[in-house]
Amino acid sequence: MDVQPTAPILLFDSGFGGLTVLAELRHELPDAPVIYAADLAGIPYGEKTEAEVAARVAGLLGRLAERYHPRLICIACNTASTIALGMVREVLETPIVGTVPAIKPAAEMTRTGTIGLLGTAATIRQAYVDNLEAKFAQGKLLLRHAAPDLVAAAELKLRGGTPDPAIFTAAAEGLRQQAGGEEIDTVVLACTHFPLVQDELAGAFGNKVQFIDGAQGIARRIAYLTQGQSFDRQDDDFAIVTGDGQDNEALRGGLERYGIGRILPL
Ligand code: DGL
Repeated sequence: MDVQPTAPILLFDSGFGGLTVLAELRHELPDAPVIYAADLAGIPYGEKTEAEVAARVAGLLGRLAERYHPRLICIACNTASTIALGMVREVLETPIVGTVPAIKPAAEMTRTGTIGLLGTAATIRQAYVDNLEAKFAQGKLLLRHAAPDLVAAAELKLRGGTPDPAIFTAAAEGLRQQAGGEEIDTVVLACTHFPLVQDELAGAFGNKVQFIDGAQGIARRIAYLTQGQSFDRQDDDFAIVTGDGQDNEALRGGLERYGIGRILPL
């Protein structure tokens, strides 16, 4: 089937962590029309059960696909992807790209053989992560830590606030204080929100630690899957948000930096 040049790429996250994917996508496909959807009424996904996340993601993506006919959907959220990617792929016909914790590149980068992984509580307990570890990190030590406060910190920073530095120290200590944790030289940011506060995390971890996230790989995958399609980006990108729209004003400046000019309710 022919894809309309104006058909958007839909990026979806519980909040605005997926902006880290949007930034990389803009490098790859500057002319692609993009709609960014944030389930602000459902954030944080990381504190929900698997069933709750799966139901929200499938329901919302179904409505968004029906309304906007995207050429491709990117679930720019590790929590939603590690829980619901398979299921959503079964129910929607639109091609779907998920977000997978960057364990494979981390295993190639580490020199000490000890990798830290920061994610949400829901992500770090997924079998999806166990499988990635078994497949790509054999012979390495992978230490996981749930850092839900980093999600709120990233959302606050986007709205112009200054997160409490203790949040970043606690995330670093949560990994370092595990057995063998002092050897960590590579940290996987396994939540799309976390690169938004990478500078603050770098301050807390110190300069011997390198960070890796999946955003660039996802953008490349989207570019690959849309090869040969034409793009006509007529307007500014816009964001669709669930919830009461109460903090739309606070969000405006942060979103404009990513080329998102309008915020609409779902
Ligand atoms: N940005 C999401 C992720 O990548 C989740 C944040 C949340 O809603 O807990 O995991």
